[in-house]
Amino acid sequence: MKYIFANWKMYLSFDESCILMSQLLQEKSEMQNVEVAIFPSSISFSEIEKLARGSQWSLGAQNVAWVEKGAYTGAVSAQLFSELGAKYALVGHSERRHIFHEKNEDTQKKMSACFEAGLIPVLCIGETQEDLEAGKRQYRLQRQIDEALMGNNISERSFFIAYEPVWAIGSGSACTASDAEDIIGWIKLHLKDALGVDNVPVLYGGSVDATNVVSYTAQASIDGVLVGGCSAKFDEFSSILKAFDGA
Ligand code: 13P
Repeated sequence: MKYIFANWKMYLSFDESCILMSQLLQEKSEMQNVEVAIFPSSISFSEIEKLARGSQWSLGAQNVAWVEKGAYTGAVSAQLFSELGAKYALVGHSERRHIFHEKNEDTQKKMSACFEAGLIPVLCIGETQEDLEAGKRQYRLQRQIDEALMGNNISERSFFIAYEPVWAIGSGSACTASDAEDIIGWIKLHLKDALGVDNVPVLYGGSVDATNVVSYTAQASIDGVLVGGCSAKFDEFSSILKAFDGA
């Protein structure tokens, strides 16, 4: 099974989200051996869920609060997304870390909140350009993984990891498929050897488009892709789905 996850970020209005979802489902809702999941904005989530009913597509939250209920103005809990039909939730996306200053300890709490709510968290990790140049790639990834998973009883949990190098997100300069394969191979080895967990799907994200998607999904260690910008445009995302389906 391979996975194509679409992170719509804050690219679309409510109406645009509904139109895009309807068009995509009409164009291509059934695919073999691939799971498509859409991560719409919180505000359009419920309407997108109604449109997705009866299809094979899944839905996820772009972000969740780390508590279930209470005086947390503006926050949306994992429980609430679960109640509305989410299967997944992104945790620790690079934009949450760099724009909203989320720390590894926040990702740890959000992973717990997802597990408690019955959501499958997709832990997003990735090194910056500075980390890369300083030879700190593995160091950064290892800390992001270990600190998010700490105390979370992970051998009994389902979760994904999305490797999204910060320098590749939205830059048009993607990590090469062979480099992504090597580092994702290393991530899987680390999960197994240091943390005792096997079979965690690991996705690649960062400037994925219709011309390069198959180069990632064809790799042995890469279980799928997390697409940002190109997933919020009908022509580009349907070309990604077609490229994948035709491969
Ligand atoms: P882009 O595909 O726009 O580079 O974004 C990747 C991403 O952040 C997905 O979560």
